[in-house]
Amino acid sequence: MENTVRNKQVILRDYVKGYPKESDLMIITASDRVELKVKPGSMVVLVKNLYFSCDPYMGILMKEPNPSTFTLLDAFVPGKPISGFGVSEVIDSDDPAFAKGDFVWGMVDWEKYSTINPIGSFKIDININVPLSYYTGMLGMTGLTAYAGFFEICSPKKGETLVGQFAKLMGCYVVGSAGCKQKVDLLVNKFGFDGAFNYKEEPDLDASLRRCLPQGIDIYFENVGGKILDSVLMNMKSYGRIAVCGMISQYHLETKEGIQNLPLVIYKKIRMQGFVALDFIDKFPNFLEFVLPYIKERKLIYVEDIVEGIENGPAALVGLVHGQNVGKQVLKIARE
Ligand SMILES: NC(=O)c1ccc[n+]([C@@H]2O[C@H](COP(=O)([O-])OP(=O)(O)OC[C@H]3O[C@@H](n4cnc5c(N)ncnc54)[C@H](OP(=O)(O)O)[C@@H]3O)[C@@H](O)[C@H]2O)c1
Repeated sequence: MENTVRNKQVILRDYVKGYPKESDLMIITASDRVELKVKPGSMVVLVKNLYFSCDPYMGILMKEPNPSTFTLLDAFVPGKPISGFGVSEVIDSDDPAFAKGDFVWGMVDWEKYSTINPIGSFKIDININVPLSYYTGMLGMTGLTAYAGFFEICSPKKGETLVGQFAKLMGCYVVGSAGCKQKVDLLVNKFGFDGAFNYKEEPDLDASLRRCLPQGIDIYFENVGGKILDSVLMNMKSYGRIAVCGMISQYHLETKEGIQNLPLVIYKKIRMQGFVALDFIDKFPNFLEFVLPYIKERKLIYVEDIVEGIENGPAALVGLVHGQNVGKQVLKIARE
């Protein structure tokens, strides 16, 4: 086996204005070769990256930082690799907590090999017999987001109305919104939602919500923002809860849409709270304990959209922004 390898990376060309395009990213072969051994005393871990998670927040990090694009993570740096959550195999380690052959998930640069400081990387228990790619999504940050947002922020009670498979498991009446027929069919026929509609084809979102949820909405899990949030506010019940997880419709607009119906938060005494999954990282063991039995019993259905090859990373990431993914968008970099 060779002692060094060439590294391919996905680089941000320059800060992005508006919607990200594939041409905002480029694939390069780094000039420095990667040593397949770490230096004694460095406490670092060398990993081969296997899967990357494509996430909507990554599009925001491609923009020049300014007060209106405030994020909790540092913006990507033009000329440097972008980064995100990934699943990796340990090649060599100077940290006694990690050994060659271990699998980890955590933040990594989008490149084939990374040298990481493993604080903030989680060792994967391979005795939990699920595909490693799940740790980019259902068993990683995406799953923790749904868990924390639903159980910690939404305060669900049996018989209530909101969106998501966790809600369904808890006995709620669940309605989803998605941008094409294939996704609407998935929500109802595969995930067991009680109803779903295609927001791109509904001429009046307020009427769509009234049709699907005539009693009103107890809980709304906000991923989208803009017009749908305005229509949801019209249909919330008194004392309803809104967990603000994301606002993907607004991330790349030069001028954000205003929300007309915010005063209803007062009159309906709605509790609306933003949250960030990373703040709930201490709940990760509770989350696994909750979610694994449901996965084993096939009571939670997970759909992945796996694109292969680091060269296809820019297309996968940009496709997500335009709703082209059906299921969790994952980029496969190398064979396990
Ligand atoms: N707070 C946190 O800690 C946290 C953590 C993770 C994710 N999030 C947020 O959660 C949301 C969902 O993230 P995810 O990772 O699960 O992504 P995802 O649902 O796998 O992919 C994003 C989806 O958003 C939809 N979309 C894209 N542009 C849209 C637009 N302009 N209007 C409405 N929908 C649009 C598309 O589906 P359609 O075909 O249906 O349009 C697309 O497939 C995002 O807002 C994200 O920022 C928050």
